[in-house]
This record gives sequence, C-alpha cells and structure tokens, in this order.
Amino acid sequence: MQRDPHDMDSASALAALQWQVELGADEAILDAPVNRYEAVETKSAVAPAATPQPVANAQPEAADAVQAARMAASSADSLPDLAEAMAAYEHCELKRGARNFVFSDGNLAARVMIIGEAPGRDEDLQGKPFVGRAGQLLDRMFAAIGMDRASADANAALYITNILPWRPPQNRDPSAEEIAMMLPFVGRHVELAAPDILVLMGNISCGAILGRKGITRLRGNWTEAMGRPCLPMFHPAYLLRNPAAKREAWADLLDLQARLRDG
Ligand code: URA
Repeated sequence: MQRDPHDMDSASALAALQWQVELGADEAILDAPVNRYEAVETKSAVAPAATPQPVANAQPEAADAVQAARMAASSADSLPDLAEAMAAYEHCELKRGARNFVFSDGNLAARVMIIGEAPGRDEDLQGKPFVGRAGQLLDRMFAAIGMDRASADANAALYITNILPWRPPQNRDPSAEEIAMMLPFVGRHVELAAPDILVLMGNISCGAILGRKGITRLRGNWTEAMGRPCLPMFHPAYLLRNPAAKREAWADLLDLQARLRDG
C-alpha cells in the first residue's frame, strides 16, 4: 500500500514536537491546527458584516476592573488587609466558580517569594497554593537546597503565592483580562511581603510579571521586576511532564542557593 508522506509514526511525531519545544514553542494555543489561508478567505468574505461594537464595549469594562483592583490593592496596608481586599473583589468571574480563595502559604518573613500561576484542583479544595502533585514536587525541589515553606528561619523559608487566587475552570490558562485585573494585587503582595528575591514559576507567571514568555529561554536568567531580582524557573507541573528538564531546574536551584548565600 502507498504511504501518505504526511503520515508520521508516533516516534517521529514526538521527535518533531520535542524539537519545537526546544526551539521555544512551548505553548499549545489550540487543540487542532488552523488553516490560516482558509481563515483569511472566510474573514474577507464576511468582512463587511463584522462590527467592532462588542470589543469597544468590553474595553472600558476591563479598564474599570483593573482600576478597581489598583484602588483596592493600594489601600491595603498589611497582608491580612490585602487578602481581605482580594477576597472581596467582584470583577473576576473565576471567583464564582472556585470553591476557595487561595492567598498564600509559608513564612511571611522568607527571603524568597515564589509566584506560581493559579490554584489547581487540590489547591482549590484546600485553600492553599501548591499542595497537589506539582506542589509536592516543588517542596522536594526546595528541600534539596535546604529550603522549606514551613521553616521559621527566613533564610531557609519560602513564601508562596500565585498570580490568580481562584482556580480557572478545568485548569485552563488564565485569560489576559484575568491576569491584568489581578496583577495590581500581586504587585501590592510583593511590596508588603518585601522578599529579597522573586522566583517566577513557569510561563504564565513570567508573562504576567515580566511581560515576556518562552520559559525555555527565560529560565535560569536573572532579571529584575517589581524592584527586586527575579529568577524564572520551569514550573513543577512542566517538570512532571518533562522529567529531563529537571537538570535545568536543579541548576537554577543551585544558582538561587548561591545568590542567597552571597547576600
Ligand atoms: N500550580 C500553580 O501554579 N499554583 C498552584 O498553587 C498549584 C499549581
């Protein structure tokens, strides 16, 4: 039987995928490929009927939500105040679907503050960040350099939060609007916790805080944001799916340990 040259065996498909990930294409945008040529044709065929109205209406609402978040965040003078202001914030629809509000965990005095993405199922159930499988891996990773969220010693402790305090349905990626409206709270959270170093776990956290994505390139490269040094790292959920990347994560942990030791 003649083989279609477009057919790929699973090993070649996996190798091609791995190659794309190594090039930095580490985000799946859609489940199925889009034929852009078809999309252009369809769009131009219906162009006269398209109306910008809904977008024009959506923008002021989003701007109001961000403005409301800025005001609520800036008026919080302590971490308990901030938690209360966030929990009372009504503009984020995720709040309605979540079981619990997930603010933070760990030692408030920790020199290192970890910022993840959003609660998953276990975090939503327990009301604490990073307690599911990825969280357990995170604990093991930091234990390997002598750090522990429960430590009473600020040098060895961790303070942990997320960009979003509510679980997105089915753990979908947070939308740009959700991130934009919760970001003022994250900024205030960092100011009030005043860590020496931020660790940004994964692409969503880097996109939100650095305005840049592509964790494969960003990880391990120290940068600055919110007035402090930041270390982007692979998210532990990514490491669960890609154990080979633990090598790089280990290098980043050692780098973090050295930085803490040096000052
Ligand atoms: N992933 C995150 O980014 N945060 C959590 O709290 C749990 C999983």
